[in-house]
Amino acid sequence: MPVMWYNTKPAELLAIDYPILQGPFGGSFSSVELVAVVSNMGGLGGYGAYTLSPQEIIAVNIKIKAATSKPYNINLWVSDTDAPGGMISDEQYEMAAKIFRPYFDELGIGLPEKPVPFKSKFENQVQVILDIRPKLFSFVFGIPSADILEQCHKTGILTAGAATTLDEALALESAGVDMIIASGFEAGGHRPSFLAPAESSATGTFVLLQLIKEKIKTPVIAAGGIANGKAVAAALALGADAVQIGTAFLATDESNAPAIHKRMLFSEAAKYTSLSRAFTGRLGRGISSRIAKDLMHKEDSFLPFPLQSQFISRMRKAAIEQEKWDMILFWCGQIAPALKHSKAAELMRSVIEETTAQFDQ
Ligand SMILES: Cc1cc2nc3c(=O)[nH]c(=O)nc-3n(C[C@H](O)[C@H](O)[C@H](O)COP(=O)(O)O)c2cc1C
Repeated sequence: MPVMWYNTKPAELLAIDYPILQGPFGGSFSSVELVAVVSNMGGLGGYGAYTLSPQEIIAVNIKIKAATSKPYNINLWVSDTDAPGGMISDEQYEMAAKIFRPYFDELGIGLPEKPVPFKSKFENQVQVILDIRPKLFSFVFGIPSADILEQCHKTGILTAGAATTLDEALALESAGVDMIIASGFEAGGHRPSFLAPAESSATGTFVLLQLIKEKIKTPVIAAGGIANGKAVAAALALGADAVQIGTAFLATDESNAPAIHKRMLFSEAAKYTSLSRAFTGRLGRGISSRIAKDLMHKEDSFLPFPLQSQFISRMRKAAIEQEKWDMILFWCGQIAPALKHSKAAELMRSVIEETTAQFDQ
């Protein structure tokens, strides 16, 4: 009898056919279409909503509901700013201006003004989550208050928090989350560390997964470096109860990444990725760029998240217009050179078939 690899605890809790989650993408890379394709095929689509206003989350939710009757995930960032009071000093601005000026000059554009103070959005966003009740509310960069988790529990919203270390997984388990996402450093996007600096929380998915499985009873979702059925089977063999796939879905036609970003993910350039704070103020993995290389060890001059993104947004826009791709961060996980599919449905089908084949051997 073939092993039913897909009958795992998260699949049962989430009422999905396959324990395969499409990683949510914050910052406008998510799309309703991608969520719907994955959920309609028996996985769990996910929408990254941390930059959205409460009204925008409500609007997206209506669109998702129109596109699928299946369960889905909405994702937020518990901590969405590193600037005390959302502000920076004039001195911080001057330091950032000094090291970034040559790039603005190269693009022939002026430096921006000092960024305006940023107000955290999380408290208002999470109230909307409690109202719209997605099947899963996943979050990164911290743990919501006991009160919020209790309200999720009472209203039947399942919760999943991301851990980049065993300590973070233990903290999430004590808080009583339903699932823990073990986020290895191979992954594309930001490193969602919240107890220690991301730089000192750089563990690979398969080590992190094993450490967490040894000490933790909460179901674990492995994320980072998984893009095909062989890796899904390997994660399950190491004790994962589900997987979350990001970069491979980001590269599909259905994601909201710009066409050039998708081209880069399938290009030779994707062989080299690196972690940098230069583009947002928080550590994230993308295709190695000239700016990330130039500014290594200059982190003290960057502005805190998210003011660094705001500060360089005009530079990013000009670099895109002038096609200076080495000045842009293309978010990308280490597995990108192994990507094969540009249609989300084909990726899902292939991952399911390949995982099944691994267990049938
Ligand atoms: C462009 C991009 C944006 C992301 N944004 C978020 C986010 O807002 N919230 C989150 O929980 N994970 C986010 N992630 C992580 C993914 O959901 C997923 O866990 C990760 O990509 C898995 O690793 P992989 O890229 O190696 O497949 C993002 C990843 C990428 C590539």
